[in-house]
Amino acid sequence: METKLLNITTENLQLAAQMLAAGKLVVFPTETVYGLGADAFNEEAVKKVYEAKGRPSDNPMIVHISDRAQLEQLTPQITPVMEALMEAFWPGPLTMVVKKRTGIPDATTGGLNTVGLRMPSDETARELIRLSGCPIAAPSANLSGSPSPTRPEHAAADLEGRVDAILMGGDCQVGIESTVVDVSGSQPMVLRPGIITREALAEVVRSLGMRVEMDPALFINRPRDVSGSDFKPKAPGMKYRHYAPKADMEVISGQADGVRAEINRRKLEREAAGQKVGVILFGEDQYRQAAHDFFANLRQWDDQGVDLILAGALDDADSVGFAVMNRMLKSAGYRVIQV
Ligand code: TXA
Ligand code: MG
Repeated sequence: METKLLNITTENLQLAAQMLAAGKLVVFPTETVYGLGADAFNEEAVKKVYEAKGRPSDNPMIVHISDRAQLEQLTPQITPVMEALMEAFWPGPLTMVVKKRTGIPDATTGGLNTVGLRMPSDETARELIRLSGCPIAAPSANLSGSPSPTRPEHAAADLEGRVDAILMGGDCQVGIESTVVDVSGSQPMVLRPGIITREALAEVVRSLGMRVEMDPALFINRPRDVSGSDFKPKAPGMKYRHYAPKADMEVISGQADGVRAEINRRKLEREAAGQKVGVILFGEDQYRQAAHDFFANLRQWDDQGVDLILAGALDDADSVGFAVMNRMLKSAGYRVIQV
């Protein structure tokens, strides 16, 4: 398949929107990561997304909208908690899992009776959705299992030849995927952590007499436990091997000084054995930066052909650190060394 690489111009946005409306696949920037979009109501188009990514088809997609009017097509009822969270965080990096309207293809929602909805703050993304005239189902625009794309060249490296067009926008501002919160039950529950933290959500829903729960699967830090039925994550996508760099990866956890020393020791040891080693290390006041850089760092080390990536854990982290650590553990296949 020939993939059009499109700069962000008015004409190219029109063209990309027409392609989406015609059932084609278009990669587009958002503030979190690049998305691989298709008309959410076009079952054939949505099926092609799974093929392009090599993604298991039980994994539901997030449906992206550009304005509130589109909500009514997607969910039967706008509840007070949805209302409050929309007011506080949309447009922005928050996905709400809500009851779905019949008519949304099962392919879009992985057969679930809920749907994940997000209104991105990225202007290009919203303009594209608006011009296409349809809600856009979009997972992250990477091959299934590889690090999420935060720059246009990442999406192109994974998907050129597999999609119809890629909108070559800028660097994604946030760098990790949206917070996913399920608001279809009696209390909101975070299924995937992101830069909108549990605390931030809790503050908004407190006036409704609600707390914010965390999916217990988020606290399991061994893959064996994650695949076990007791701890099946409620967001199907959270159970797959994710974000894996080609290099081996280890997370070093402990006091900051000890972590730095251990990373150095391991690095020198491997280098003495003729291997290439990459390091990812952020301070406690750098969580937003860590989120922004993390996936790009993984790809950069792979491009440089390193054998091993050593990453400093964001252990005693606030919640943004928790969101980055969630990705770090998956990338490393849960290989944690405690010092
Ligand atoms: O920031 C983002 O959310 C990016 C950009 C493109 O918007 N998209 C993204 O999509 O990360 P994806 O497909 O890589 O991740 C979607 C996550 C998966 O873990 C999926 O299982 C979960 O959201 N999800 C989607 N719909 C759901 C539903 N109805 N119930 C539970 N989990 C759902
Ligand atoms: Mg993804």
